[in-house]
Amino acid sequence: MKGELMNYREYTIDKIAETAELEREQIEKAVEIPPEQRLGDLAFPCFVLAKKLRMAPPMIAKNLAEKFAEDKHIAKAEAVGGYLNFFYNRTEFTESVINEVLEKGEDYGKASIGTGKTVLVEYSSPNIAKPFHIGHLFSTAIGNSLERIYRQLGYKTVKLNHLGDWGTQFGKLICAYKRWGDDAAIEKDPINELLKIYVKFHDEAERHPELEEEAREYFKMLEEGEPETTALWQRFRDLSLVEFKRVYDMLGVSFDSYAGESFYSDKMPEVVDILRDKGLLKESNGAQVVDLSELNIPPCIILKSDGATIYATRDIAAALYRKRTYDFYKNIYVVGIPQALHFKQIFAVMKKAGWDWADDCAHVGFGLVKFPDKKLSTRHGDVVFLEDVLNESIQKTLDIITENSPEMENKEEVAKKIGIGAILYAFLKNSREKDIVFSWDSMLDFEGESAPYVQYSYARGRSILRRSGGNSGAIDYSLITSDEEYALVSQINAFQSAVIDAAEKNEPFYVNRYVTNLARLFNKFYNSCPILKDEIAPEVRSSRLALVSASCEVIKSALGLLGIETVECM
Ligand code: ARG
Repeated sequence: MKGELMNYREYTIDKIAETAELEREQIEKAVEIPPEQRLGDLAFPCFVLAKKLRMAPPMIAKNLAEKFAEDKHIAKAEAVGGYLNFFYNRTEFTESVINEVLEKGEDYGKASIGTGKTVLVEYSSPNIAKPFHIGHLFSTAIGNSLERIYRQLGYKTVKLNHLGDWGTQFGKLICAYKRWGDDAAIEKDPINELLKIYVKFHDEAERHPELEEEAREYFKMLEEGEPETTALWQRFRDLSLVEFKRVYDMLGVSFDSYAGESFYSDKMPEVVDILRDKGLLKESNGAQVVDLSELNIPPCIILKSDGATIYATRDIAAALYRKRTYDFYKNIYVVGIPQALHFKQIFAVMKKAGWDWADDCAHVGFGLVKFPDKKLSTRHGDVVFLEDVLNESIQKTLDIITENSPEMENKEEVAKKIGIGAILYAFLKNSREKDIVFSWDSMLDFEGESAPYVQYSYARGRSILRRSGGNSGAIDYSLITSDEEYALVSQINAFQSAVIDAAEKNEPFYVNRYVTNLARLFNKFYNSCPILKDEIAPEVRSSRLALVSASCEVIKSALGLLGIETVECM
């Protein structure tokens, strides 16, 4: 099969379909990757045929196995109970996988499933004039990874940051500024200072309720575009963005659009009109709402009793704008689980408005981040500042490196990539709906399930390649078929399917788990198969080096999909 790419899984499925005279799709769904290598590369449970053939599964497996006796690409088809286990031709499989990686380089694993389709990924979406908190970091980690995952599969992607930059709270902030604003302090440390006066507003308003009225007035002025109020708001927004962008730069994250809630403030009347024309708006205690009782969820408030619009309305306007602007295939919102009801409501309203594409909108939720014993939220006093967390991770990594390799040259740079990687990894390690308990020990455990562990495996591989002085010898893949080597090759080959799984479920952790296993298998191989030792024959050496090189390439690509960088030495 030289020159042409051979997909063993597809080949085997086709062949089963042909032999068993069954629909390909049915086989595709039934085949499994065996839990252990000794059970082969792919397994077909013959139970699915029992009814049709009126035969016991073990018998079916046995009969089918005989028909694979003379296959060029499949070395063996073995009936074990009701399963038919396939063993690929190891040498040929190894050659095809490694050659493909080495030929394609960083393009290995890319697919064209998404060609012509646009996926919007909205993530991060912090609130201006407030600290970027740990939940926003969770969203940032997931969204940043999902966007890369979709792009890898050929989708056109758009990265959206739906900034929280509108709403009655800005009336309060402006009111607070007018009373207690200190320009010098704001310039120096904008977010902390703005937060401080905002908190002060709440304290004072408890004793002086008339402040609330004043704040409402300011928000009204803002909505009407009164120049001085608008200029203040614009300044707070600009200052906040400078701070946020500093964090994004540290994380290697970027956006195509920062159109936040304010951007949609003039696009809401249309939404209100549409909903009214369709007879969906009902009055409830002076507010205009869309009833959703048929779904057993509370009504969605569209206009408040004072006529002011709200969060939900801005989101509906944003969805409509996005559909018109990008004609999306999928519109993904990476936002915490506490907002699940909000998204259910707005999607339901959109559906009722007759927008079928509401079904292409998805809320991708995630759990809470717990610092051993407290829940984090900006509303409580115990804010953990994100930048501090990132810097602490970098500093802790630097301490570890300084202790282990005092003579390393670019320590700071390496510590930055590992420290940031460790945090991103921690967020992408488990299914996103699970709560996370933040632990420096496990995040920075160089031998555990951590970014440093995977990054270290990569650096180890790169170091072998450097020490080998280049790989120019003849390669003979029939020499590298030990179980350790073969397990590694199989895992390399599974890259694309891990990425597809991740996109299907919007779960970057599939890629995380994939790359962690890849690193683990790489280390096993490394420990059991000498490469540069004198007694190793030249063809074995070059073949193993090719495997090292392919492993590094895929570790790097897979980490890249998580937003994690690699380092050459550590
Ligand atoms: N700014 C909001 C918050 O911090 C998140 C925005 C979520 N996105 C949306 N389209 N509603 O809670």
